[in-house]
Amino acid sequence: MKTLIENFGRFNDHVVEKIVLKNNNNFQISLLSQGAIWNEFSVPVEENKKINLLLNFNSIDSYYSNPFYIGMSIGRTGGRIKAGKLTLNDTTYNLSQNENTNTLHGGETGFHSYIWDYETFQTDDTVSVVFSKRVSPQDDSYPGILDVEIEYILNNKNEVIINYYGKAVDQDTVFNPTNHAYFNLEQSNNILDHELKINSHQILSMDQEKNPTGLFKETAGTPYDFHKFTFLKNAIEDLQSIPEKGIDDVFYIDQPSDCPIATLKSNRFNHQIDIYSQRNGLVVFTANSFTSDMNLSTGKGHPYQGIALESQTLPDTLNHKNFGNILLKKGQSVTYQTKIAYTHN
Ligand code: GAL
Repeated sequence: MKTLIENFGRFNDHVVEKIVLKNNNNFQISLLSQGAIWNEFSVPVEENKKINLLLNFNSIDSYYSNPFYIGMSIGRTGGRIKAGKLTLNDTTYNLSQNENTNTLHGGETGFHSYIWDYETFQTDDTVSVVFSKRVSPQDDSYPGILDVEIEYILNNKNEVIINYYGKAVDQDTVFNPTNHAYFNLEQSNNILDHELKINSHQILSMDQEKNPTGLFKETAGTPYDFHKFTFLKNAIEDLQSIPEKGIDDVFYIDQPSDCPIATLKSNRFNHQIDIYSQRNGLVVFTANSFTSDMNLSTGKGHPYQGIALESQTLPDTLNHKNFGNILLKKGQSVTYQTKIAYTHN
């Protein structure tokens, strides 16, 4: 087990630190103090060869010069809130309208935008970092003060565990965090040869601006049917006739779910990640609109370069009674966990 702190440049007059966590099996993850960004998940694949399973950038500015939230922590609420209106206890809060008139991923000044305090920890079998921040309504216009901790753990079972802790300090508020890592299990040009399985039979129906309408759609017999392993190229090929030209959808996870909510697999390296979460939603985005002005560490951006698998409670939750509960009553706290378990088959 090993922890290293490196310098990752400066952003808005702050020094950005890169926290590198290594386990005993030659696996390594790294995180950035800016945006609590998950920057790297390197795994040994062949003798003397390691690959990074995450898309990333070599400079902090590059992370913020595109709209794709690569690796970033997302909150207070993942996904879109229609018209930026959040109504809680009969008061309507106007949130930042950072995509058309809607609020996307916590608004302009969401979790992704903060410099986080952090502390590192180590045991015989785990290395971890805990990012912390007290978020106030002055930061993001959401109701109430929210204490947040985001913990990333790497253990010797080659699992990455993300714990999101939130506590409503002085008033009721909402908490629906996620992480926006994009995976490419081959560190290759695209994820078309990856296979994906999701423990789901339904997706949310959405309006033109990708706000949930409140209805669910069965996936059986459609390109969105991933309840068995399916090659991403098959689904993406079938979706070329729609404007999105790929997947950008919210999957409703079959309940209750003790098995992985999703598995992403590469036959080229004979390895996979299993994602575990107790939340009822998984947003899947196949990077359909990546552009060539993005200077990723592996080259210029292009569609289907990676796949984001964002476990969260269904978005726009307060506007749809049956979408789940993201409410935190004054004084209440909650911890959500996402586990990404790596296996070589
Ligand atoms: C996803 C969302 C996409 C896109 C992406 C970030 O969560 O579903 O529509 O906004 O984030 O670019």
